[in-house]
Amino acid sequence: MADIEPPKPRKNLGRKRGVQQAPRVLSVESKARASAKRVLKTQEKKIQKASVDLHYAKKKKEQILKTDNALKGKDSAVLTKDEVEQLPPNVQEHVEDNIIFQPNEGPQTEFLAASEREVFYGGARGGGKSYAMLIDPLRYCDKGNHRALLIRRSMPELRDMINHSQRLYGQAFPGAKWREQEKEWRFPSGARIEFGYAENLTDVLRYQGQSYTWIGIDELPQYPTPEIYNFLRSSLRSVDPDIPVFMRATGNPGNVGSQWVKEMFVDPAEPNSAFDVNINTIVGNKSITRRFIPAKLQDNPYLMQTDDYLIMLSSLPEVQRKQFLEGDWGAFENSAFPEFSIPTHVVEPFNIPRSWLRFRTCDWGYSSAACVLWLAMDFDNNFWVYREYYTKRVTADIFAKQVLEREQDEYIRYGILDSSTWSRRGDAGPSIAETMIREGCKWRPSDRSPRSRVAGKLELHKLLSKDENTGQPKLKIFSNCINLIRTLPMLPIDRNNPEDVDTHAEDHAYDALRYGVMSRSVHPKSYEANRYTEKEKFKPSDRVFGY
Ligand SMILES: Nc1ncnc2c1ncn2[C@@H]1O[C@H](COP(=O)(O)OP(=O)(O)OP(=O)(O)O)[C@@H](O)[C@H]1O
Ligand SMILES: [Mg+2]
Repeated sequence: MADIEPPKPRKNLGRKRGVQQAPRVLSVESKARASAKRVLKTQEKKIQKASVDLHYAKKKKEQILKTDNALKGKDSAVLTKDEVEQLPPNVQEHVEDNIIFQPNEGPQTEFLAASEREVFYGGARGGGKSYAMLIDPLRYCDKGNHRALLIRRSMPELRDMINHSQRLYGQAFPGAKWREQEKEWRFPSGARIEFGYAENLTDVLRYQGQSYTWIGIDELPQYPTPEIYNFLRSSLRSVDPDIPVFMRATGNPGNVGSQWVKEMFVDPAEPNSAFDVNINTIVGNKSITRRFIPAKLQDNPYLMQTDDYLIMLSSLPEVQRKQFLEGDWGAFENSAFPEFSIPTHVVEPFNIPRSWLRFRTCDWGYSSAACVLWLAMDFDNNFWVYREYYTKRVTADIFAKQVLEREQDEYIRYGILDSSTWSRRGDAGPSIAETMIREGCKWRPSDRSPRSRVAGKLELHKLLSKDENTGQPKLKIFSNCINLIRTLPMLPIDRNNPEDVDTHAEDHAYDALRYGVMSRSVHPKSYEANRYTEKEKFKPSDRVFGY
């Protein structure tokens, strides 16, 4: 018995006998729970990783299948860079050997990846713009509801694009068929790409009532006004939520419409940054996003393989070189009035002395703009264009009232109006000129002689050039005449008649000015003052009108 060790006394925890040792039980349980939790977490992580791996494996499988089908000609052959990079290295190698188009790095890639609704890709010649324009609509050709329309101004230019498309589209989508009659590509999915030309608004009416999910206009600045662009925009709609709608355009500076394109896309924001344009709709204010992507020849390695094209562009006259090589939208090239400059010809407004002769001159338009310019003539027969009214879609009677409102308390000696607003023999009903005159807004017709256009242009050159003695031009414009200042320097010369300006450009303010300076104004006081001192070279029979 003496061998039996008595049990060791338990540590006295200072607690009364019979009281539950709750803290100890709790501590054991929480440890077990914690370790179970840890195991559970590890398992969850493993499952999560496995499901992510499974997802990627599935995607990879899909991608390989898609690529395989594309290489067999069964599926869309349009793959993104990410999609190619997901492929196993050996497949990637095989794919790279079969690429028929890959965007050039920089602007061409940005254009083809752009998500903005309206994008203008423009600038230097040869940057790869038209080529990118051909590729862009292929992006959704695996979707049956995709409808694209690619527009050029004339049929020969369009034919060039069609030829390029025949080299590319057939290879990218072996099932795709070209239908010459309809000028349309039909893809196995049901998608279509139509090639059209539109010289003017009448041509573009062909597309009225049609719906397109993608519309592209190559060489947008060839259009003198934004009307065609805006008209086509109204045909942009999608019934398929998987197909977003896109409006795309390309072009170079130095064309008749470069000014409005610049104002719509280039001026509002820094190049390459998207900007919103507010649109008033019947359901409130909405906005669309636009972006301008500048193009440079240097971005196109295919034309930079030799120096030939670069040397050719570099040898152009300065303004053309700036436009075509540097894609400079501010350079006014074949400008009809290169002598015009803001520091020389534009002045801050001042109060015109009451003794100066004042008259107004107008080029009328309803659908296109109407422009009235008010001119004052000082005692040295200098012209000062001191006010302008530039408007659109105002009927002749209201227009007349608006003109009169602007010249209250002034003595306007006479008004010259575009002679085509007078009725011709056989016309029934009041002419535009007559309607205005009935409202109290008096006019006389501008010179109608056949050479008046060229003579008017020459007269303007004379007035804009600096006087040998004073160093100042004889024509100055107040800075508030914004439309005249905006449009005069960018008026291009008519390619078919270098003596005249291109009448497709925005020439309303120019026409008004031309009528005005050809109205043979001579300040009556200057005439009186010079009458006995100068040799009389010209003797007007009417002192007011100068005839
Ligand atoms: N990604 C590309 N892959 C292969 N060739 C290309 C690519 N981009 C451009 N090119 C080649 O460069 C040539 C010139 O490009 P493109 O006609 O598109 O230039 P552009 O900017 O439209 O010129 P322009 O201002 O004169 O209209 C194309 O005919 C084409 O051969
Ligand atoms: Mg082009």
